[in-house]
Amino acid sequence: MTTLSHRHCRAFLPEKLFLPRDFFIPEVVATKATLALEIGAGRGKHALSFAIAHSDCHLIAIERTKNKFMAFEKSALQQLLPNLTAIHADAIAWTVFALPPKRLSRIFILYPNPEQHNPNQQWLNMPFFEFLLSRLQTGGEIVLASNIEAYIDNSETQARDVWQLKVERARVPDSSQRTHFEVKYLARGEACWQLTMIKPNGYQTRFDDWLPKES
Ligand SMILES: C[S@@+](CC[C@H](N)C(=O)[O-])C[C@H]1O[C@@H](n2cnc3c(N)ncnc32)[C@H](O)[C@@H]1O
Repeated sequence: MTTLSHRHCRAFLPEKLFLPRDFFIPEVVATKATLALEIGAGRGKHALSFAIAHSDCHLIAIERTKNKFMAFEKSALQQLLPNLTAIHADAIAWTVFALPPKRLSRIFILYPNPEQHNPNQQWLNMPFFEFLLSRLQTGGEIVLASNIEAYIDNSETQARDVWQLKVERARVPDSSQRTHFEVKYLARGEACWQLTMIKPNGYQTRFDDWLPKES
């Protein structure tokens, strides 16, 4: 059984968050369908191609920045993929209010903002990461990609030492074209890396039974 070493991390306080504007829970969440989440989907390049390639999995892709979300939504409406839901929200509040424990099979965080001057805002440094892990199924995976080697180095250390996950690290192939940022970095000849983090059997978090209060 894996229990987090709580002394390393401040507790996340989900009860302090406010319901996102225009909030709704997509019907698929309450079904048995395989569900994946993308955080920071940008203009949706990865979300659209993932949904086309994985018709057996429903992807909820969240983007906070309005103009990027509008471009994403426009493409999503043109393609009308039944297994893709595009959400305009902050992924932290949205996840807290919308997702029950152990619901997700995969989570994608592709080329997050580097937050080099504010490392507390890097995803694996945030107390929210424990909540995110509570929403992942046993054996589920989180895929994180970045062109910033220090971001990947730190995330890999955090994943092993604080979050006690199984971690694989790989170089993103030069031919990969999953997201707009990935295309841009690889075209400039920059190296990109990816971590695949697996939630082990028996993993426990402080949010495994936490649900938002009925409003
Ligand atoms: C560097 S961009 C990468 C976009 C896309 N994944 C790509 O690779 O082309 C990071 C994106 O994450 C979004 N983002 C950052 N924090 C977020 C949050 N808490 N909730 C939703 N989106 C977020 C930003 O708005 C931005 O569009």
